[in-house]
Amino acid sequence: MATYSVSDLGRRDILLMAAIAASFGLSGLATTARAEASLRRTPGQILGPFYPLSEMPQTTDLTRVPGRSGRAEGQVLNVMGKVLNLSGEPVRNAKVEVWQANSRGRYTHPSDTNPAPLDPNFDGSAVLDTDAEGRYRFTTIKPAAYPAGPNLIRPAHIHFQVTGKNDRLVTQMYFDGDPYNSTDPFLNSAGAKQLLITNALDATPDLEAGSKLVIFDIVLYKG
Ligand SMILES: [Fe+2]
Repeated sequence: MATYSVSDLGRRDILLMAAIAASFGLSGLATTARAEASLRRTPGQILGPFYPLSEMPQTTDLTRVPGRSGRAEGQVLNVMGKVLNLSGEPVRNAKVEVWQANSRGRYTHPSDTNPAPLDPNFDGSAVLDTDAEGRYRFTTIKPAAYPAGPNLIRPAHIHFQVTGKNDRLVTQMYFDGDPYNSTDPFLNSAGAKQLLITNALDATPDLEAGSKLVIFDIVLYKG
């Protein structure tokens, strides 16, 4: 009768696991290599301390607060884009959560100690769904840069958390030309930071006069 010592069984198990891992690993690498030939995943960024505590409203217009007649202060932005996977396929019904500071650099979050004023017409968050083509869009105002420590000013940015069927991505969208982009440790920690920097373009005629158009596509691994 064959007998095995504990160390023999351990070695056999390790070899078996290594073989399984290698077969999965090889097929995974092949898939990734094929997919990365088309698109690159949007770099992740920190969630940050101001993720909203309460449920985010389902709205595509952050420039108005339900029940209030005024409009948020600041440059109106039409932010739109697609959520895609590495193969370029649209991610349908993805949940897109967005949150941001107001035009003075202040979040509505109770932990924000920035003395900049709140805007009564801006709560600064929303939850959206992508459509059948993976598209999302919302209207907001351009956030301002804000102090985040004794020697740190965060450049203007909008936070995103995107949840598909297989993946969740937490990231931040930045604006080209912001003087604080070059010194921001979070933006500069991204491997391909240019994927997070957008241009605020002049609005097309179908959009609100004086507003800007910002296009930000988001790429998940599988979707
Ligand atoms: Fe932030």
